[in-house]
Amino acid sequence: MTTTPVTGPTTAAHRAGLQLVPRPSQLAPLPGRFVLDEHTAVRAAPGGASAAADLLRTLLAPATGLPLPPAADGRIVFVLDPALGGLGREGYGLTVGADAVLLRAGAQEGLLRGVQTLRQLLPPQALSHRRARGTEWALPCAQITDVPRFAWRGAMLDVARRFRPVSFLRRFTDLLALHKLNVLHLHLTDDQGWRMPVAAYPKLTEVGGEPHGGAYTRDELTGLVAYAAARGVTVVPEIEMPGHVRAALAAYPELGNVPSRRLAVWDRWGVCENVLGVHDQVLDFCRGVLDEVMDTFPSPHVHIGGEECPTTEWQRSPDARRRAEAEGLSGPEALHGWFMGRIGGFLTENGRRPLGWTETGSDLPAGFTAVPWRSAAHGLTAARRGQDVIMAPYRSTYLDYPQSERPEEPPGQPGGVVSLRDVYDLEPAPAGWEPAAAARVLGTQAQLWSEYVPTAAHAEYLAFPRLCALAETAWSPHRDWPGFERRLAHHRTRLDALRVPGRPPHGLPHNASFTFPPGSGPSGTPGSPGEDTGR
Ligand code: ACM
Repeated sequence: MTTTPVTGPTTAAHRAGLQLVPRPSQLAPLPGRFVLDEHTAVRAAPGGASAAADLLRTLLAPATGLPLPPAADGRIVFVLDPALGGLGREGYGLTVGADAVLLRAGAQEGLLRGVQTLRQLLPPQALSHRRARGTEWALPCAQITDVPRFAWRGAMLDVARRFRPVSFLRRFTDLLALHKLNVLHLHLTDDQGWRMPVAAYPKLTEVGGEPHGGAYTRDELTGLVAYAAARGVTVVPEIEMPGHVRAALAAYPELGNVPSRRLAVWDRWGVCENVLGVHDQVLDFCRGVLDEVMDTFPSPHVHIGGEECPTTEWQRSPDARRRAEAEGLSGPEALHGWFMGRIGGFLTENGRRPLGWTETGSDLPAGFTAVPWRSAAHGLTAARRGQDVIMAPYRSTYLDYPQSERPEEPPGQPGGVVSLRDVYDLEPAPAGWEPAAAARVLGTQAQLWSEYVPTAAHAEYLAFPRLCALAETAWSPHRDWPGFERRLAHHRTRLDALRVPGRPPHGLPHNASFTFPPGSGPSGTPGSPGEDTGR
């Protein structure tokens, strides 16, 4: 550690170093800077701070080559102190002085968020995967107190329509963590693919993993869960039911409404009419699959889809009509709520909280956390019914829509544009809502559906920088669009150092290909687009 001459807090370099995304709750620049060198050591105070210190070391090693060894007299000090409970699970206090750095939190997650702030305070080269020689690793001095506005700050990846390798999921997890996002929601099954291995039903991935790429192994998924946990990110699994199941029906026709019928994994986009039957064997199947999902994913929440479920097959099926009658339902269309209630109840009995996409705000049984995707107003309806809500209205959070109307913008989901500003302007708990309803909003998440996203690099083009906007909306108490634009201009140099092929401010030329620069990201998985019918 070397102490350098004090510079005023208003120099350009100092200001650039403080351009944080998401914007912290409180930040006061202080004069001077703290420089890391080969002698800088880290002291993790007794009480569980060493995991966060390890993460800092791991994250900074590739670019800086600095050992940052543990030492009792280290000048970077990490303190985990339950007495700081007022900061919540994820809040932290960070003081960067010219002689020492002090990071304090009341819980592990807070220290992990503070580590990401330290990373952003360093020159952007610190984020590179390659050694950046000749850089001075200086942090501008500052006093930061930072507490997230919402507990749920996430992104969903649709790995069912297009399989993405685990290397991409790890890289994406790192990018989420950099932005203090804390949920990676994996959409693992759909009409066009089934990517979650289930030992009791091996044909799900044998048949359903065939199109567009493959399936994960159990070890890959448990490894991902641990990797994400070390970064303070929870992996939330989603298994779709009772609709969006054509891949499962291709593997096990007896789960359908016409057991003698043979269906292929769907090769079109859109809403498929084929849905699960409602006989006991189907409920056993869903419970068996979810048993293995719960074994793999410790997440308190488990998503079971629930949206876009046509009831035509149930109306036609004598068995389904009998089931509706036996359950005292008004008709086969009420089987959707019955089905979600049965499986949601199974999750609750097992100590998990069911999540479902809501179409109206009132279609999911009590006990579900509602994810309104069609309209923010449905969030209010669900919240008034006493349900927790994760806001995901497509006009603000669907990142498969193009980012502008410019003709050279690469094609995406037809029918609209979701601009950076649209994402930033989402208000997850609008001021006009009554306080009891607003208190039900856990947070928000972005959706990266993959019908129109053939490669992993294209996914990053769509995700960034819009995820930066979502992160600020979900984390920061400040609504500061001009400030966000300014800070983003600097933040782009961090994304460049990470070689994220995100959308540049004025888009890419038409027909640009989305490739990771050599030696950076994972290999993509090109796929054929199938017949486009709209979602
Ligand atoms: C959805 O867009 N299918 C939730």
